[in-house]
Amino acid sequence: MTSTLTTAASRTVDLGPAAELVSKEEGHRQPLAPEFVSAEDFSPLEVAYDFGRVRREDIEAGPDNIWRYKKLLPVPSNVEQIPNTEPGFTRLVRADRLARALGVQRVWVKDDTGNPTHSFKDRVVAVALAAAREFGFDTLACPSTGNLANAVASAAARAGWQSVVLIPSSLERAKILTTAVYDGALIAVDGNYDDVNRLATELAAEHESWAFVNVNVRPYYSEGSKTLGYEVAEQLGWRLPEQVVVPIASGSQLTKVDKGFRELGELGLVEPTPYTVFGAQASGCSPVSTAFRSGHDVVQPVKPDTIARSLAIGNPADGPYVLDTVRRTGGAVADVTDEEVVEGIRLLARTEGIFTETAGGVTVATAKKLAEAGQLDPDAETVLLITGDGLKTLDALEDHVGPKATVPPSVDAVDDALGG
Ligand SMILES: Cc1ncc(COP(=O)(O)O)c(C=O)c1O
Repeated sequence: MTSTLTTAASRTVDLGPAAELVSKEEGHRQPLAPEFVSAEDFSPLEVAYDFGRVRREDIEAGPDNIWRYKKLLPVPSNVEQIPNTEPGFTRLVRADRLARALGVQRVWVKDDTGNPTHSFKDRVVAVALAAAREFGFDTLACPSTGNLANAVASAAARAGWQSVVLIPSSLERAKILTTAVYDGALIAVDGNYDDVNRLATELAAEHESWAFVNVNVRPYYSEGSKTLGYEVAEQLGWRLPEQVVVPIASGSQLTKVDKGFRELGELGLVEPTPYTVFGAQASGCSPVSTAFRSGHDVVQPVKPDTIARSLAIGNPADGPYVLDTVRRTGGAVADVTDEEVVEGIRLLARTEGIFTETAGGVTVATAKKLAEAGQLDPDAETVLLITGDGLKTLDALEDHVGPKATVPPSVDAVDDALGG
C-alpha cells in the first residue's frame, strides 16, 4: 500500500506562507508534514511562516470570511476557490448593557455563534481541511467534545470527503443529532473525552489516510483560531483590545488568539499595544485554573464533571502554554460553578440578546468573577469570546427558564399573569 505520507512527500505542498514546522520547546525545525510532535524534543509542533509583505488593504479586499487572512494561514493560495465551509468574519458586538452588569466600562462580544455550524470550531476545521487536502488525505476525522464533531462532519460533507467522528457517548443529544445529520461515520464511545482522544491517537497511527484534525494535522488546525484575534483587531479598527477573556478546553484557542495579536503587531498591521489574556474554565473541569492558582507550571489532569461539556477536557494538551501566555500578559485563569455558568448564559441573553452555549456561559461568568475580584480592569476595553450557540445545549436551561404562565386565550388571563 502506498502510504499517504509517501504520497504527500512526493507532491508539492502549497500551504501559502507556511514555511516549516518548529517544535514549541526547543525550536527544532522540520519540513511541513502531517505530524504533530517533534521527534527531537517530543514537544508539539507549530507552523512557522515566511509572511513577506501583508497590507491591510489586501486583507480588506478579501472575502467576508477567514480566507481574507489567507496570507497569514497555512493554506493554499487559491484556498477560497476550493469547496470548504467559509467560516468567520462573525460580528463583534458592542455590549454596553452587559458592560454595566459586569461593572466594566467597555465590553465587546465576539459572537462566533454565527459560524456555519454555530461555533468557532468551523475556523480550525476549515484550515485543517485545506491543509489536509494538500497532504493527500481523503478522510476527515476527530475526537470531539461536540462542536468539533459538528464542524468536521459538515466540512467533510461539503468537500465530498468521508468523515469519522468519535464522541463520548454522554454528549448532549443536540450535538449528536447535529453531527449525525451529515451522514458521516459518527461513533459514540463509552468513556470521557480523554478516553476518546487516546483512542483517536491510536487510530491515527493505524489509518494513514485519515486526517485527524486535532491530532495528526493539529499544527495546521490550531492556526485557524488565530483568525479570532485577527478579526477582533480588524473590527476594532485595526487595533488590539486591552483585555480578552477566552474559554479553555485544550487551551489551543487561547494561545492562538495571543499568537494572532502578536503577529499583527510584528507585521505592522496594528500598533503592538499591551493586552492581557484571561482564561475561563468550569469548576468541574478546571485543571488549568487550579495550576494557575497554585503557581504551578504543570497541569495536573482531572476527571471532568460539569454541564460545560464542550470544555470538558481533563488533560488539556496546551495547558502549560496557556499558563505561559496568561502569566506573560499579566492575566489570570479562573473557574465558575455550573450554577454560575447557567447565570452567565442568562445574563448574556438578558442584556445583549445573544444566546450562547455553556462554554459562553463559562466566559461571561468568569468575566463577572474576575471583575468582582478586581482582576479584570474595569477601565480597560474588554472582549469576551462567545464561541458557541445556545441551541446546542438547551438541556442546561431545562430547569431554569420557561413560560411565565400557561393561560387560556383571554386578555384578562394574560393581564393577570403579567400582574396587572
Ligand atoms: C464552544 C467552545 N469554546 C471553546 C472551546 C475551547 O477550545 P480549545 O480546545 O481550543 O481550548 C471549545 C472546545 O471544544 C468549544 O467547543
